[in-house]
Amino acid sequence: TTTAFAFILGAYLIGSLSFAVIVTRLMKMDDPRTYGSKNPGATNVLRSGKKLAAVLTLLGDGVKGWLAVFLVASFGPAYGLGEQQVAMAGLAVLFGHMWPVFFGFKGGKGVATAVGVLLAFNPWLALAALATWLFMAFVVKISSLSAIVACVLVPVYAYFIVGPQSVYFGTCIIIAILVVHRHKSNLVNLLTGTEDKIGKPDEQGK
Ligand code: G3P
Repeated sequence: TTTAFAFILGAYLIGSLSFAVIVTRLMKMDDPRTYGSKNPGATNVLRSGKKLAAVLTLLGDGVKGWLAVFLVASFGPAYGLGEQQVAMAGLAVLFGHMWPVFFGFKGGKGVATAVGVLLAFNPWLALAALATWLFMAFVVKISSLSAIVACVLVPVYAYFIVGPQSVYFGTCIIIAILVVHRHKSNLVNLLTGTEDKIGKPDEQGK
């Protein structure tokens, strides 16, 4: 339907707001797509040394993921939309973040946005994913590896939390595949031992 399309398009447009680019522009900092991993995301913004900018990026990208799904979940039913469309909004906001129409389709890796989406699907899913990321980050101190491990486990968590019959279960599998796929360069760095630790300025000139 047209309403479903409007909601999904809205989610994609919300996702296209790359907070790494927006926050650094507002704070008159360098564009994160020019240094470190070149990724417009909180982890790379942190490489600039400005913690506040990284936190704002993390919050902005996370909240937009939650908001895009929340809007469809709350206002969709009045237009006959259900869980299927809620799930699609989750994928659409993630697509927007990864391939933003406003920023030359060069977006981020989707970790913060995915957590926001999971939060709107089911708070326990987000909590499990976030706890995994935090635990891994505490142990290995590498953002990408923590995200990849959390991604691999998200479908397992979803299996138990929402159940294999839920539309959110399949959606979580797609989300995990998308986010891991965006970490290809990190996987190469991890395998060659050149991936940097959280907060350390980039030394590899990546
Ligand atoms: O949020 C993305 C993170 O997992 C990795 O970012 O900049 O180290 O490639 P980065």
